[in-house]
Amino acid sequence: MNSNIILIGFMGCGKTSVGERIAKHMGYTFADTDQMIEQDTGMEISTIFSEKGEEYFRDLETETIRKLVDKEDKMVISTGGGLPVRECNARILNKLGFVVYLKAAKDTVLARLAGDTSRPLLAGGNAEEKVGRLLDYREPMYEAAAHLIAETDGRTFEEIIGEIVRNYEIIIKPQAE
Ligand code: S3P
Repeated sequence: MNSNIILIGFMGCGKTSVGERIAKHMGYTFADTDQMIEQDTGMEISTIFSEKGEEYFRDLETETIRKLVDKEDKMVISTGGGLPVRECNARILNKLGFVVYLKAAKDTVLARLAGDTSRPLLAGGNAEEKVGRLLDYREPMYEAAAHLIAETDGRTFEEIIGEIVRNYEIIIKPQAE
């Protein structure tokens, strides 16, 4: 297993905000799979969905994390909210390092995503219904793919990051040194 820290969870659960702070704290490099895909393709995620379709995007996600397995360790990797749903992706994440599920309640996610227009899966229709359905479907997969489930509701960044770093150091870091 590599010694990266991988953050998974639903859109709006705080993967980027938490990930950037952990990377700074640990002196690790921060990477975001959505950003990597946008850089590699020169297209925005919403354009990839509308012009190429979701399956094409999901293939790009798999390709992106496969490439990371051969890269340097000591990265904090934030993943797109749907990435761990593919079984083969969950296995690759497990190889990549310590997988943390940032768990957020439906109302927290809805509040954080209010007014957001960048997520194609939430575009049009009733956001509350869509988030509820997707979250119920994905939750067991996030939990199964994770080494640690970190609750985010009502907690500060310091509390969340402290829990992640403590567990990472106990479980992963000694193996890598
Ligand atoms: C998606 C989440 C998005 C992005 C794409 C699909 C999903 O990433 O990958 O819009 O299926 O949940 P974030 O979780 O960073 O918003």
